[in-house]
Amino acid sequence: MARLEILHFPDPRLRRRAEPASSVDDRVRRLIDDMLDTMYDAPGIGLSAPQVNVAKRVVTIDVSKDRNAPLCLVNPEIRSAGGETETEEGCLSVPGVYEMVKRPERVRVHALDRDGRSCEIEAEGLLAVCIQHEIDHLDGRLFVDHLSRLKRQRIRKKAEKALRQA
Ligand code: NI
Repeated sequence: MARLEILHFPDPRLRRRAEPASSVDDRVRRLIDDMLDTMYDAPGIGLSAPQVNVAKRVVTIDVSKDRNAPLCLVNPEIRSAGGETETEEGCLSVPGVYEMVKRPERVRVHALDRDGRSCEIEAEGLLAVCIQHEIDHLDGRLFVDHLSRLKRQRIRKKAEKALRQA
């Protein structure tokens, strides 16, 4: 397993739409393992393949307190969503920024698991928010896109300044 480099906003590679994995083979499983390593090390509760510069529809998540319940979703698709919740979100690709974001509070998601088996997940609360945040990444969307333009511009300026100083 290996730790991968995480791309930071406003890197244009975060804006690419990721392609579905044609099957869950050893290469995809290695990517999942490396993403889990990277996510736990960061530390974060979710990571998407585009954030580590792989344009594939693969997501890893662990919202458990003890950090021992890894979830991986290949080609996830939201089948239904309901309710509304507002949660403070952050992102490993936008370090140091936490903002309130409104999203549906429940989702039903279809995906393939690590063994390529088709599965359906009903999620609510933090897990539902996290799944939606990570699926956004697969479509080139970041949580700052849910904020006002003014806020997003401020975050962008701050991020560009941090990049110049790095
Ligand atoms: Ni994120």
